[in-house]
Amino acid sequence: MALRRIGIVTAGGDAPGMNAAIRSVVRSALHNNLEIIGFERGYAGLIEGQARQLKARSVSGIINLGGTILKTRRCKEMRTPEGIEKAAETLKKYGIDGLVAIGGDGTFRGASELYRASGISMIGIPATIDNDVAGTDTTIGFDTAVNTALSAIDKIRDTATSHERIFVVEVMGRRRGFLALEVGLAGGAEIILIPEVRFDMDSVCEKIKSAREAGKTSEIVVMAEGAGDSREIARHIADETGYEVRLTVLGYIQRGGTPTALSRTLASQFGYHAVELLLTGEKKRMVGIKNGEICSVDLDYSWSAEKKIDLEKYRLAEILSE
Ligand code: F6P
Repeated sequence: MALRRIGIVTAGGDAPGMNAAIRSVVRSALHNNLEIIGFERGYAGLIEGQARQLKARSVSGIINLGGTILKTRRCKEMRTPEGIEKAAETLKKYGIDGLVAIGGDGTFRGASELYRASGISMIGIPATIDNDVAGTDTTIGFDTAVNTALSAIDKIRDTATSHERIFVVEVMGRRRGFLALEVGLAGGAEIILIPEVRFDMDSVCEKIKSAREAGKTSEIVVMAEGAGDSREIARHIADETGYEVRLTVLGYIQRGGTPTALSRTLASQFGYHAVELLLTGEKKRMVGIKNGEICSVDLDYSWSAEKKIDLEKYRLAEILSE
């Protein structure tokens, strides 16, 4: 059956660059004479039928905006057969021939279920600051979040140096350490704590004491939120080393801000490729990038496989912080 009308939805945690992806999907679809229906507020809006037609001018002036003009929402109902069924009914009611779902692994799990319930083609575009989606080297928003966190850490290093303090800086990443590792290496952190590498507090404190003996007068500890309780870690270091320790939890500033060039170009390429996959009759894929090449993987792989973290990068950060 010829493709005539596609839907687009942003789901899960928002990420800088989602708007650039929406813009690319809309403009690529219009270039191919397709109609586009945007579903608002994630899968919750899809279930409730919150829809609006998108045209070329609907996506003017958004490539440089963080967030998502379609808004997003986490949706527990989409993990139930009833919710999936309601979403499938909405897609059929609007005559959607293919849906582009922009989000993270949870978004793609829902899209895979929706494909099985409706038979409607599903194409995923990976957009999350966590970069924890299998099948792609990087996700939309990751580079922006790395640079946001890095800018904060560079500022923190000024006051750490002035006061000769230790700063524990907690970054996002949900259950994974991709964001912490990238920011830690780029920021020259003395210690990086991530869920993927076991650590004990005695060796953490030992490393800090050795750093001081080697002449360092301040340290930055970058910690992934999934690696433990950062308040507890900061308190333990203060008690064990006797040095002044402060904690900064970067939180939601990592989710916003104008997307970097890389986040925008990746989003633009992913959006175009997603429409191409629908036009060629693909049923259930996620767009990705591998070694600089745009590619796609089976949608079920993207949420069911575990992405490996680069432990060589972790080791390099350790060596360079000595
Ligand atoms: O998945 C993106 C993310 O920012 C995670 O890094 C973080 O743990 C989570 O979302 C926070 O979820 P919420 O926005 O629902 O508080």
